[in-house]
Amino acid sequence: MIHLDSLERRYRGNLINSLGGFKSICLVGTKNTLGNENLAIFSSLVHIGADPALCGLIVRPSIPPRNTLANILESRSYTINHIHESMIDQAHQTSAKYEASISEFETTGLKSEYKEGIYAPFVKESIIKFACEFVQKIDIEINGTSFIIGKIIDIIVPNEIIENDGFINIDKAGTITATGLDAYYTTSKIKRLSYAKPNSIAKLIS
Ligand SMILES: Cc1cc2nc3c(=O)[nH]c(=O)nc-3n(C[C@H](O)[C@H](O)[C@H](O)COP(=O)(O)O)c2cc1C
Repeated sequence: MIHLDSLERRYRGNLINSLGGFKSICLVGTKNTLGNENLAIFSSLVHIGADPALCGLIVRPSIPPRNTLANILESRSYTINHIHESMIDQAHQTSAKYEASISEFETTGLKSEYKEGIYAPFVKESIIKFACEFVQKIDIEINGTSFIIGKIIDIIVPNEIIENDGFINIDKAGTITATGLDAYYTTSKIKRLSYAKPNSIAKLIS
């Protein structure tokens, strides 16, 4: 048994941060109302629902608030961009605490791109990306984090990786996954199984 209370702080952080398994890792693109672009890596992206299409992000406490959170609250617009193997170093570097006036696009060399009707910048290098409109912020009292809920309003995914039933083969785009705050992994699909029912065994789809 590992007793959490006796652990050294950094060791405990690494242990707990990697305990929950592989995470959806993404780059969140935002822009404040002065026009300053921002890009930050997040591993807390969660699916909330498909209709309406909603996703969530956990933002850690900080004074002043993280640029990503401040920009989302200010502009209500943000983009979620998948990370590929060739982008790992640049994506990781976006976690450095840059001033609001410094664009992580400029410091890392990742390119911003804009789509009509979407205020926030996308990451050009990302193969799969989507735009969100801020819907709700839920403050989690126990540790000062905030849960940010966004409505998915636009999606960019190459047609060739979408199966006939709408399933996206994200491994074909080379999307990576992560654990903790510093370990990155490639992905490959093992299998897809049909909807599980109590009276029959799920079958192989692909
Ligand atoms: C792999 C990884 C995952 C991260 N995930 C999150 C996260 O889910 N939530 C969060 O608040 N910060 C997360 N961070 C830290 C942010 O990237 C970091 O605080 C960054 O400076 C925020 O930038 P901003 O001030 O431009 O918003 C993560 C860092 C790394 C390296």
